[in-house]
Order: sequence, then C-alpha cells, then structure tokens
Amino acid sequence: MSRLIVVSNRVNVPRGRENDGAQGGLAVALTSALKKSGGIWFGWSGKAAESFTGAVDYQRHGGVATATVDLDEQDVEEYYNGYANRTLWPVFHYRIDLADFDREFGRRYEAVNKKMAGTLAPMIDPGDMVWVHDYHFIPMASDLRAEGVANRIGFFLHTPWPPHRLMVALPYHRRLVETMLAYDVIGFQSDEWRESFLHYCEREMDGEVDGEWLTVEGRTIRCATFPIGIDAKVFAKLATGPDAQASYVRARDNVTGQIIVGVDRLDYSKGLIERFNGYRKLLEREEWLKKVTLLQIAPPSRGEVPAYGEIRDQLDMLSGRINGEHARVDWVPIRYVNKGYARPELAGIFRAAHVGLVTSLRDGMNLVAKEYVAAQDPEDPGVLLLSRFTGAAAQMEDGALLINPHSQLDIAKTLDQALRMGWEERKERWQTLYDGLNAYDVHHWAADFLEALKGADEA
Ligand code: G6P
Repeated sequence: MSRLIVVSNRVNVPRGRENDGAQGGLAVALTSALKKSGGIWFGWSGKAAESFTGAVDYQRHGGVATATVDLDEQDVEEYYNGYANRTLWPVFHYRIDLADFDREFGRRYEAVNKKMAGTLAPMIDPGDMVWVHDYHFIPMASDLRAEGVANRIGFFLHTPWPPHRLMVALPYHRRLVETMLAYDVIGFQSDEWRESFLHYCEREMDGEVDGEWLTVEGRTIRCATFPIGIDAKVFAKLATGPDAQASYVRARDNVTGQIIVGVDRLDYSKGLIERFNGYRKLLEREEWLKKVTLLQIAPPSRGEVPAYGEIRDQLDMLSGRINGEHARVDWVPIRYVNKGYARPELAGIFRAAHVGLVTSLRDGMNLVAKEYVAAQDPEDPGVLLLSRFTGAAAQMEDGALLINPHSQLDIAKTLDQALRMGWEERKERWQTLYDGLNAYDVHHWAADFLEALKGADEA
C-alpha cells in the first residue's frame, strides 16, 4: 500500500489522547489518514535557527511520524512573515491594499520551497502519495519534480483564491501559478475559489477547462472542490464533557443577558471592526441594553506583521469606545479577550452562547461556524449568523442566517432576529446544520481528496 506524505508549514500532530476533540479537526483527520496508510508529516518546526542546516528532527507522536526542519531567521522573516503572510495572505483575501510586494520576499519564498523540497525528496519512496497544504508551499510540487520525484502530488488550498483581476496585481503571478501545473490534483474549499483559479488559467495561460479537468501546456490536472468539515460528533461530545460544562457554567453565571460569541484569530480578514460596529448598531435599540453581551475571543496572531499590530490597536480602541458609550455599573456590553482557550473550554463557551457570530470579509471555509453548531444543546440550540463571504456559507445557507458584514444595519437587524427567534425555528435550523456537518465530516474530506489523488496517474 502506498504511504502518505503530508506537507504543511505547521505540523500539528495531536499530542494528547487521540480524537477526544481537544485537537483541531484538520490535525485529527490528517493523523488518522497517516495512521491508516503509514507515512510522514513534514514541515517547519516553528523555530528559527542561526542558519539553515537541513537537519531533520524525526519524532513519533501518537503513532504518527513527523519530520520537521528549522528555518533560519531570515527565512522566517522573508518567507513566513514576508511572502506568505504579507504578500500571499492579503492578496488571497482580496486585500491588495495591505499586500507588500517585496522582491526579497518572493526570492526567499522560492528558496525556502526549494530547500524544503530538497530535504523532503529523499524521504519519498516510489508509490508514496504526497499531499501539500496551503499557500506557504505552492511551488513544492514543481521543486520536488526538479528533485526527480515522479509520485502523485496533490495540493489543497485552505484559503480563498482571488478573482483573476485581483490575482494579476501580484507581481510574477504567472511564475507562481505555473509551478502549480506540477500537481496532479488541486483542491479548493468552495466552487467560488475553484472557479476563480480556473478562470485565471483560462485568461492568463490559455488553459482549457472541461468540468473538473484543466489542461494547460500539455498537462491535465484535476481541480475539484473539497469543503473541509470538522469531526462533528466528537466535538459535540466534547461540549458536554466536564471541562466544557465548567466553562458553560462560568459563562452563563457571569455574563449578563443573552450571549453573542465570536472566536477568531486576530486577523483583518475576520471582519472584527465590522462586527463591533454592527453590534454597536444593535445597542442603539435601547431595549437590548443589559439584555445582551458580545463575548469576543481573539487570540493575537502573526504579531510581527505590521497589519496585525494595526488591527489590534484599532480593536482595542473600538471596544473601549463602545464599552464607554454603553456600559453601566453592572454591565459591560463587550467582553473582548485577547487570549486563546483550550478546545474543551471553547466548546462549553459555544454551547453557552445564544448566538454564534461570524463576520469574515473573506474566509476559505471558517470552521468556527461548524464548531459552534456542533457544540449546541440539541434541545435548546443557539442561532448561527454567518458571513456570506465564507466558504462555509455555500454549505450552511439553509440553516444559518447569512449576513453581509459590510452592512452594520444588516448585522444589527439579523442579530435582533436571532436573539428573538423562537424555539421551533431554532431547532429546525440547527437540525439542518447539524445533519449537514455529519453528512460530510473532516474524515470524508480527507478520504475524498486522497481518493482523487489515488485516481491520478503517476507523472
Ligand atoms: C490559516 C491558514 C493556516 C495557518 C493558520 C494559522 O488557517 O490557512 O495555514 O496555519 O491560519 O496561522 P499561522 O500563521 O499561525 O500558522
């Protein structure tokens, strides 16, 4: 049987008890796929060394082999903070206004991909399948081919792919996309991102599209949509465990009125400013004063990238202003928390919240929306408000209330609707959403992608 080689910038193998929900769904799904077929999870150690030596740290965690490599300080600065997070991330989230186009970033991105490919290539046996994840390693297949790797190689993009007209704002865009022709299968979170990619290939490279098949420069590649899910049953179970119970009680006992919850990495793509302003609009309806609280959990992320510092400052100011405007001696309208919580605690907070609020301005999928649903009490579920600009919206539009995060009025009106929604409608909407989560969970997702990759011919 062919082994699986997973490649991603971060290697997040579960270290605790397997699949008790305390780990993210992606890590659990990849781990269980790796266990089934054997193989290695390869990527960056997360550490910066003085110089790149290519020395591989091999470990085993919960029956899965990992192989990680330290990058050097300049790699971290120019490849990870630079090209990945200051160039590709904003462009892929439609924010060319925030993108830094620095030639050194691009050069270093290519160089890191090359040296990572050079380190990985000797670990790949004939017949192994290679599965590369996310925007950090787009050129990986092409670099592996240059090392003589002829195996099947697939790529899954966890973020959006921008429309053609935005993509061409990226200098050397074609040079980057051409490297993708070395993959056998390319997966996207939603049809929207897949269509944007195919459109780019048609317009810029004379690609021909026939259903899921793209032919460019004599290569035919399968480009398909695989919407990532969560392990819904496991997360639902986690939400009734002892740690979740304790955080449920803490939230319900200490927070005034109905709870609206948001949980996001502190990132400008999440629409947090828009969320706070939409909530502020709701508070203009005086009947909601002291009847509702927004609990926003936003652990800081990518702190060395300037745009992240800026959004953090803006949110500090805005939350302070809204609280100053509306707070009473016995009530604070926004509880804004810049720290991360363990997943069991989060599950309890989700379950305690009457409304889950997702306002991303662009989001590849958004798994918080799915976790919020999975954590609900089936007998008294909360309501999900979901930005129409997430990959999740295409799957969850029947049960969630879709919102336009750019409209404060739309957020306020829809929050009002959710907070007043009767039991029957809440239950019916929740059931639709929960059935959807179970119909295509993260294990289906991994199995589907690997099935597609298996079906591809070796190059
Ligand atoms: C997004 C990306 C992931 C990334 C994660 C956390 O979900 O798609 O690839 O790992 O953000 O960001 P970080 O920069 O901390 O890895």
